[in-house]
Amino acid sequence: MRGLSVGGVSAERLARRFGTPLYAYDGDLLRARLSAFRRAFAGRDLLVCYALKANPLGAVARLLAREGAGCDVVSGGELGRALAAGFAPSRVVFSGVGKTEEEIVAGLRRGLYAFNVESADELRTLERAARRLKRPGRFAVRVTPGVKAGGHAHIETGSADTKFGVEPREALELCRKSRRSRFLRLVGLQCHVGSQILATGPYRAALKALLGLAGTLAAEGTRLESLDLGGGMGIGYDGGPGLDPAALAAALAPGLRGRPERLLLEPGRWLAGPAGTLLTRVVRLKDTSRRRFVVVDAGMNDLLRPALYSARHRVVPVAPRPGRAAPADVVGPVCETADFLARGARLPRLGAGDLLAVRDAGAYGSSMGSQYNSRPRPAEVLVSRGRAALARRRETPADLVRHEL
Ligand code: LLP
Repeated sequence: MRGLSVGGVSAERLARRFGTPLYAYDGDLLRARLSAFRRAFAGRDLLVCYALKANPLGAVARLLAREGAGCDVVSGGELGRALAAGFAPSRVVFSGVGKTEEEIVAGLRRGLYAFNVESADELRTLERAARRLKRPGRFAVRVTPGVKAGGHAHIETGSADTKFGVEPREALELCRKSRRSRFLRLVGLQCHVGSQILATGPYRAALKALLGLAGTLAAEGTRLESLDLGGGMGIGYDGGPGLDPAALAAALAPGLRGRPERLLLEPGRWLAGPAGTLLTRVVRLKDTSRRRFVVVDAGMNDLLRPALYSARHRVVPVAPRPGRAAPADVVGPVCETADFLARGARLPRLGAGDLLAVRDAGAYGSSMGSQYNSRPRPAEVLVSRGRAALARRRETPADLVRHEL
């Protein structure tokens, strides 16, 4: 019987060669998803700015940079990674409510496409830094259009109840104020209304809000270079298709018809999520009077999403197993009740050493990992055109104490 593979390479072989737990990414699928996304918007001036936070692994970032993607970064660390991976600075946007003056200076020196400014204070800081460096402070204002979207309260970002962006009225004020500075260059408006969004309606609503503001600014003589609708495009964690970029393009088409602005989108999960699989081996089975536990060698430190958001990832045996499926909790070795990868997964009878695959783990998997319980981070491999290459070595016990004095 054929087992599961990643990018055409048998998962069992990957696990034998690189050990478990292991993050394995399908580079061909990453490329295919980026081009499907772009194809959906063919004929429009679209810049896809990959949200690096979803998966900042160098091998993943380099692959997307080589394909000509742009990048959305949220820290000096991400900025450094993005530029090292080869993203052109003119295709990088810098988001986040807490950019420090140092981070802003670093971005200005490199000549980024735009800072997505999230407060009046940040705009003042940008102006000061741009004046000092005598560099143009290119920025977009991040607006909270009051659109509610997304899968979970922790990842809902489109309203004034969250720390992100500014409300429409303040956005206009910031745009107007910026005209008074020789060092600020307003390039556009941005919003990001949430994450794991499966419907196109929230994007249509967000676009409408941005176009309303753009209209007000145009009447005052201010033209925008770009409109950025952020990321958030959802995927089918249950095996379903997720948000279809062609449907998204179709939903936005009426609003965008005849508009001269360039469109920016910042997908993270949609590009990287389905391309990643977390491979983990069964350590042992354990039954209580109430539940069956499958204890595996990956834990919440490796994949936090189930514990943090009650996210449901499909967990499947890599080699098909005969026998009736029965509900089981797939749990890790971490000393927390929340340490589970799946609850009530329907799994066949398994044994120690069996290999399981946690699907759709390419986004916010490794990137949200930690060493909690002094667990070295797993190895990561990229499979591209039929070849698997180690992209990040498995951490060792020495790595756990490397920075301690
Ligand atoms: N742009 C901005 C400004 C963002 O804040 C985010 C995500 C993105 C783009 C990319 O969103 P995506 O396309 O990946 O949904 N850790 C959570 C997701 C947090 C998303 C934070 N911001 C999770 O595991 O579901």
